[in-house]
Amino acid sequence: MFASRTGWRLEPNRLSQAVEERRRSGQEILDLTESNPTRCGFSYDSAQILAALADPRALVYEPDPRGPLSAREAVADYYAERGITVAPEQIFLTTSTSEAYTYVFRLLADAGDEILVPSPSYPLFDFLARLNDLELTLYRLEYDHGWRMATETLREHVSRRTRAILAVHPNNPTGSFVRARELDAVVELCTERSLALVADEVFCDYAFAVDAPGDEAGARVISHAGEKRALTFTLSGLSKISALPQMKLAWIVASGPPELLRHALARLEVIADTYLPASAPIAHASRQMLETRRTIQPQILERVRGNLQRLDERLARGSPVSRLEAEGGWYAVLKLPATRSDEDWAVTFVSEDGVLAHPGHFYDFRSDGFLVLSLLPRPEVFARGLDKILARVEAEA
Ligand SMILES: Cc1ncc(COP(=O)(O)O)c(C=O)c1O
Repeated sequence: MFASRTGWRLEPNRLSQAVEERRRSGQEILDLTESNPTRCGFSYDSAQILAALADPRALVYEPDPRGPLSAREAVADYYAERGITVAPEQIFLTTSTSEAYTYVFRLLADAGDEILVPSPSYPLFDFLARLNDLELTLYRLEYDHGWRMATETLREHVSRRTRAILAVHPNNPTGSFVRARELDAVVELCTERSLALVADEVFCDYAFAVDAPGDEAGARVISHAGEKRALTFTLSGLSKISALPQMKLAWIVASGPPELLRHALARLEVIADTYLPASAPIAHASRQMLETRRTIQPQILERVRGNLQRLDERLARGSPVSRLEAEGGWYAVLKLPATRSDEDWAVTFVSEDGVLAHPGHFYDFRSDGFLVLSLLPRPEVFARGLDKILARVEAEA
């Protein structure tokens, strides 16, 4: 009856069973995986957000495959503030970054083709690839007092069927940005093997500092949206930029060598025309909703930095746990003693301590001993949950 691509293992895993049991028994759970910003006690400019939805232009249906021009101009202005010139013609609005991925994958790859993705990274790529009948090939991000792309071995992963290299900037959950020299290596490979570059920049505005520790100034890529050497698709949206995932507005910026770009835009236009995805009220509200980033991003950065500081202060008191270096994003990766599997640790934290955190294998960490925490929870929830995790590890490691 069903397509083999939907043959997922749908039974709850041990961690979700433990959460379910704890909830059923009425006991508290401190959720250190919470990534939904609308539930983390931030102060949104509600009046501005709701007023933006009352734009009279939303009463007229003017189908444009790319989305309304005024909305694309607002997106272009967002990049212009970063010193990157993007024409509205290069922009396609979508309902989410996930949908944007589907457009790009449909444009570039046939069933069975391969996309190179970083590892560790965000688990959704597995589902997105599968739903588009693609294979994922993993390239390693290596850790040594900071993350780096193993560019010297990147080409070993490229096969006849590889169509694109995906970069997540900064990556979730490692918090590592792409460096200019890494991008040079990726672009060289893309050009040589006729591959496209797909850059996911949803967390790009959440850098902890302008430069990474130990990096010379400007080593980090500002955005891939200005990349012209290889065919490049830069993805982002309101879900992280303005912390408004419920608004469902994201985009693709296509850039690259003019002739290749012209063909890509013409084909993307047909894909977009098939779905006409952007909702008029949201699209017309997008300039105002993008503006709200100026009040929400400082709150989120303060929260994320504050929770990181709490974490570091607690670890500095002496602990068998350490934190991996990160440059940005909404997550922290902890290194635990691998005296048991990640999943065993995570299940113990839920069942014994009432704290939910993600085991590293959710993000494809290759060995045991990694735990991923969201840095968005309220400080008191974060501090209590963290104390319980550390106390448990200190007692049992
Ligand atoms: C790296 C990355 N890309 C994309 C997304 C999804 O974004 P959207 O809500 O726009 O689909 C997420 C969500 O957490 C993410 O972590």
